[in-house]
Amino acid sequence: MDSCVRIFDTTLRDGEQSPGASLTSSEKLEIARQLAKLGVDIIEAGFPAASPDDLEAVKQIAQEVGNPPPNLPPHAGGGREGGRTPIIAGLARANKNDIDKCWEAVQHAQHPRIHTFLATSDIHLKYKLKMSREEVVERVREMVSYAKALCDDVEFSPEDAGRSDPEYLLDVLEVAIKAGATTLNIPDTVGYTTPQEFGALIKGLIENTPGADRVIWSVHCHDDLGLATANTLAGVTNGARQVEVTINGIGERAGNTSLEEVVMAIHTRPALFGLQHGVDTTQISRASRMVSNFTGIPVQPNKAIVGANAFAHEAGIHQDGMLKNNMTYEIMKPETVGLTASRLVLGKHSGRHALKARLVELGYNLSNDELDQAFARFKELADKKKVITDADLEALVSDEVASLNELFTLDGMQVVCGTMGMPTATVRLRDPEGKLHTVAAIGTGPVDAVYKAIDAIVNVPNTLLEFNIHAITEGIDAMGQVTVRIQGANGKHLLDAQKELDRHRTFGGYGADTDIVVASAKAYLAALNKLLIVTQAQENAASTEIALMA
Ligand code: KIV
Ligand code: ZN
Repeated sequence: MDSCVRIFDTTLRDGEQSPGASLTSSEKLEIARQLAKLGVDIIEAGFPAASPDDLEAVKQIAQEVGNPPPNLPPHAGGGREGGRTPIIAGLARANKNDIDKCWEAVQHAQHPRIHTFLATSDIHLKYKLKMSREEVVERVREMVSYAKALCDDVEFSPEDAGRSDPEYLLDVLEVAIKAGATTLNIPDTVGYTTPQEFGALIKGLIENTPGADRVIWSVHCHDDLGLATANTLAGVTNGARQVEVTINGIGERAGNTSLEEVVMAIHTRPALFGLQHGVDTTQISRASRMVSNFTGIPVQPNKAIVGANAFAHEAGIHQDGMLKNNMTYEIMKPETVGLTASRLVLGKHSGRHALKARLVELGYNLSNDELDQAFARFKELADKKKVITDADLEALVSDEVASLNELFTLDGMQVVCGTMGMPTATVRLRDPEGKLHTVAAIGTGPVDAVYKAIDAIVNVPNTLLEFNIHAITEGIDAMGQVTVRIQGANGKHLLDAQKELDRHRTFGGYGADTDIVVASAKAYLAALNKLLIVTQAQENAASTEIALMA
């Protein structure tokens, strides 16, 4: 059996299904570029049937990340120096409309994949699908064949396999192989199984499904019992050669299996697993920060591999051991996952070329206009902060990407606060037509006052669900990084592929600045802009529908 584990990243599909993770298309594209740089084998770029916007975002990723850059030979990687071009997959329910939409989006990639799924547990058949076991088998045969006629590379997932009858799964999977599936993915959709059970399930399916040797076996676990990584590793130990994962483990409910945990387990214990992966582990930290910034979902400090404390050794006895030999308490080096000590990279007198060169080294691909804006912000920052580190530059560019496509932009603000009076903020915003609006408001604190002033101008009723702030680097002049999550009062919805229902959508926003109240304003405005963009797209789609019906 081959010893190579394929890394299938579903941050942009299952990850985006987590509450608040709504991403703009520029953020999705930037994350896809980073995933290619990280060296994942497959990027599941989204669920194209969800909306025209989702289809367009998957198509853009297929075109731009799923193809080698024009000056590289065809086998070289899109966004990945000298590597393979990642496969671009899209998710489709087992119906012709979803599969057609998926193909419309992914066909632009050099290596496209259609990933279709249908539930197989009795509980899903009875209450969700209202189909008999025989009807499900027939639908799998028809839809996998339909997808195969469009695309050579077809993945099939029996949803809720973890709670399905294994004997019935054998029948379904045999049919999927005969219909042309090339990858069979076994999801523990509700995170119900334990490592022993899940490993045995994978072993049994590989040993007993006729034609099993013609496909790649894959595992897809959820973390409801905190067992996603353990179950995934049990899967590979029992023959799976593809793992479905997300950066930071984001995803539905308690999340998906985290990429960094599985990759670093395989990487750190070669003798135990005897498996290879194609990930450049030094890109892990950057991918983690980017996903956290763009989704507005913070990483818990004690999170394995990417948490702020993952490599911090505080207890005196540990520090003593570390000073003698860092192998006493450290099983991985921080540099292996891309954590390097913050270092001075640029200063006040650095020019545009130096900034561009450093950003390229960090993996950013900015257009000339974006670079001009980043340079203007860099100069502003260099006036306030003597030492500018890689982390500062990343925050600056994340802020830049977060502000792309903004409808309202922050033109200026001033805040008065303290113990001597009412916190008051004056905010000036530029609207999409370029007109300036200035409003002053009072609040319970400076951030509340700023948000009230912004609300008075933008006028989009919403609820602030979450507000997080932390310093990017050490020192009193550190940049503050703010993430917020809001929900529109008028209920803009998101089609959930699996539950087949519209869910209330929430929007994350990110902002960074040496002034934490300014960072707070930027984060809120970024989230409001996302809410506005989606509202407008939905209104446009509704009016096109009405026009077509008339
Ligand atoms: O959890 C799940 O079952 C899924 C499938 C669509 C693969 O995400
Ligand atoms: Zn899932």
